[in-house]
Amino acid sequence: MKVISLANQKGGCGKSTIIMNLALNFALQKKRVILFDTDPQQSSYETLKVREDKLLKVVAVYSDIYQSLEKYEPYYDYALIDTPPHDTEIVTVAIVCSDLVLIPVQDSPLDIRSTRVTVDLIRKAKELNPDLKTYFLLSRIQPQTILARELAEILKNRYETELLKTQISNRVAYKYSLIYGKSVNEMFSNDTANTEINDLSEEILTILNENN
Ligand SMILES: Nc1ncnc2c1ncn2[C@@H]1O[C@H](COP(=O)(O)OP(=O)(O)O)[C@@H](O)[C@H]1O
Ligand SMILES: [Mg+2]
Repeated sequence: MKVISLANQKGGCGKSTIIMNLALNFALQKKRVILFDTDPQQSSYETLKVREDKLLKVVAVYSDIYQSLEKYEPYYDYALIDTPPHDTEIVTVAIVCSDLVLIPVQDSPLDIRSTRVTVDLIRKAKELNPDLKTYFLLSRIQPQTILARELAEILKNRYETELLKTQISNRVAYKYSLIYGKSVNEMFSNDTANTEINDLSEEILTILNENN
């Protein structure tokens, strides 16, 4: 089972939105995927509960994430972990247990600055999990702007961490679809958001060497 976490202790950068869309994208591809919501605010868990088709297994876990991963490991190929903004302990354990951690960051210098806390946390986690792959993911951005391009460079250089090629732009589709607990792939197949989530999914599978 491959484990993917989304982490940034800066709240509001799109962790829950991205992870729900990614998990549903995997599920639509008939991959065996489970989503762990470790945020006591339960954004992902509550949002996806309204679905009646149970396409995706979602579990709320606030401690012992390691034990939960072990429990479900025989039944799933991918575990996706949504993390809270503040609780460092569960974020650390989630990262230590991951194959890949994505750090969503908005296109603002303030957000880039406050991402340092998470980058430092991941550096420490890497001492216990040296194989961990880490990428920034520009999120909620205004695409094709000088701002986004410059900030991407700053982010990469300041923290010596690569960015995913895929970027998630700020689009109504990401908000609207979640009213119904749906992904942008399901509700907005003609929107840029649909392409972004497909690209994200493909890029992640390539990084994890699952696309061969
Ligand atoms: N790509 C996006 N486009 C538009 N709105 C977004 C996007 N990503 C997130 N949002 C909105 O931004 C807010 C924070 O997103 P959320 O996914 O809850 O972030 P986090 O889990 O990091 O706190 C929510 O209101 C959400 O609907
Ligand atoms: Mg969240």
